[in-house]
Amino acid sequence: MKYITYGNMNVSVIAAGMMRIARMNETEMEQYIREVLSCGINFFDHADIYGGGHCEELFGNYLKENPQIRDQMYIQSKCGIRNGFFDFSYDHIIGAVEGILTRLHTDHLDSLLLHRPDALMEPEEVNRAFNRLYNEGKVLNFGVSNMNRYQVDLLQSKTDRPILVDQLQMSIVHTPLIDAGFNVNMHNDPSVMRDAGTLEYLREKDMILQVWSPLQIGYFEGSFLGSDNYKELNETLEELAEKYSCEKDAIAYAWLFRYPIKTQVVLGSTGTDHIRSGAKGADIVLEREEWYRLYRSAGNRLP
Ligand SMILES: NC(=O)c1ccc[n+]([C@@H]2O[C@H](COP(=O)([O-])OP(=O)(O)OC[C@H]3O[C@@H](n4cnc5c(N)ncnc54)[C@H](OP(=O)(O)O)[C@@H]3O)[C@@H](O)[C@H]2O)c1
Repeated sequence: MKYITYGNMNVSVIAAGMMRIARMNETEMEQYIREVLSCGINFFDHADIYGGGHCEELFGNYLKENPQIRDQMYIQSKCGIRNGFFDFSYDHIIGAVEGILTRLHTDHLDSLLLHRPDALMEPEEVNRAFNRLYNEGKVLNFGVSNMNRYQVDLLQSKTDRPILVDQLQMSIVHTPLIDAGFNVNMHNDPSVMRDAGTLEYLREKDMILQVWSPLQIGYFEGSFLGSDNYKELNETLEELAEKYSCEKDAIAYAWLFRYPIKTQVVLGSTGTDHIRSGAKGADIVLEREEWYRLYRSAGNRLP
């Protein structure tokens, strides 16, 4: 496992995503956490909305029974998504964090992300909320999710605490953040710079890119691993998995790590076999030609 600096933390480049844990029972939860930690993964990604709060509750129940484990992990959660709207108001952020801490049975979050951009955001209000949470020791580090560079810039220009992370969707088959960079000054669709050079901005600012849904097609349409719609990609993954003596999932994560930016990949798997096989991806460095071949195998075209 490799580790990177996030604030004053040394976090594993693979994070364990908590969105799909809702159906675990206590024994499964315990096995899962032990497996994750034994792979060297020390970072857990929650959100107040996962399972309607139940995912944090389950995890918190485990922490309540095993308080000594808390020191071995960094816990992140997110807030700002409500029923039919987004809310970055002072009152909502403060209230949401209180709820998160109660459900998780912990006195602090190592990281808090604002989950999805709120068009009605008042950055000064966010600043007040961040300062209070930080000064009270309830949140140690801050970041955002699903924001483009201009949104991050606006927020950062008004906040005292540094914005250190942007969590964004990316995978070999979901590459809008990368495509526009290959198609500069062209008339084709990939040349449309929808995301305003967000990856380049994160690199320039030395921020962490946290990648969500590293295996999903589209918006939760299932994994591309083994999918008939991605035969060529699966053949290339198979070939490289043989070369690097690992499973295909590890190559899919290695593809994300090869992009030259501080990256954390948030795994969504709840299967201990998949956690173990995937964790190997953190230690594989793909060759340049292999990275491009995977990109093309997913159906992407270079100019
Ligand atoms: N910021 C945001 O807006 C946002 C949005 C969505 C998600 N997230 C975060 O990102 C995390 C990951 O998202 P995700 O769950 O969609 O990610 P994912 O890792 O792309 O998908 C996980 C799913 O793929 C399955 N899978 C199939 N084959 C697999 C293999 N060989 N290895 C591993 N998994 C395999 C898993 O099944 P098994 O469980 O059987 O392994 C699981 O159902 C979430 O848990 C959450 O923390 C953030």
